[in-house]
Amino acid sequence: MTKAKFVIVPMLLACLIFSCSSTSQDENESGYVRDACSVTRYRDLCVHSLAPFSNTAKRNPIRWARAGVSVTIAESKRVAHYMAVISKNNKRANQTRRRNGIALSDCVECFQDTLDNLHKSLFVLRELSVGEFDSQVEDVTTWVSAALTDEDTCLDGFDEQRGKRVRYIVNRVSNVTCMTSNALALINKLATTGPDCLVND
Ligand SMILES: *[C@@H]1O[C@H](CO)[C@@H](O)[C@H](O)[C@H]1NC(C)=O
Ligand SMILES: *[C@@H]1O[C@H](CO)[C@@H](O)[C@H](O)[C@H]1NC(C)=O
Ligand SMILES: *[C@@H]1O[C@H](CO)[C@@H](O)[C@H](O)[C@H]1NC(C)=O
Repeated sequence: MTKAKFVIVPMLLACLIFSCSSTSQDENESGYVRDACSVTRYRDLCVHSLAPFSNTAKRNPIRWARAGVSVTIAESKRVAHYMAVISKNNKRANQTRRRNGIALSDCVECFQDTLDNLHKSLFVLRELSVGEFDSQVEDVTTWVSAALTDEDTCLDGFDEQRGKRVRYIVNRVSNVTCMTSNALALINKLATTGPDCLVND
């Protein structure tokens, strides 16, 4: 019988070298969206929802900010529509479980505000000018932050409530919250880039 001899290799060093050699500068489509999403908090969601914009937005922070807001609008509309339908059906069936029902109709209102703020933001992001860049981006930041606050208010209404449907609504609203947070990060990125990026728009 022979005894095997094990040689311990300094794996740590190998790992360090390996991780340093990975690049994030890929010029392909997936590289653009990954690069844009690197400033966001919910990156997987960002990459997933913004991938279709890679081709047109490339490295343009204005286009990424617009994309972030417009996908948030689309998802907010879907969620708002769903809540409005449930809320209406509850009333018609006269089965408003009181707190749940109040939370829902509050959310429907909150989402109207959210959508107003996001639409205003998208409008201004399409009309950016060099002379007014700073105040325009500041307004957009304010409105998108307000949208985020409204979504949080909606979520607060469901605190301590249980049930399959509540869980489903909370998941979908949270998803919108994450998308809004991502949009805000893309707007902050635009703000730090400054009006120079208008030249390439
Ligand atoms: C694009 O780059 C990513 C890494 O950023 C890589 O995983 C992917 O395979 C590349 N896609 C193409 C089509 O080259
Ligand atoms: C709904 O329920 C309340 C009391 O539970 C009752 O007074 C009212 O008439 C009902 N409305 C409808 C439309 O069924
Ligand atoms: C979150 O939103 C994205 C983008 O619209 C969608 O693809 C995804 O299914 C949503 N997830 C949940 C849990 O609603």
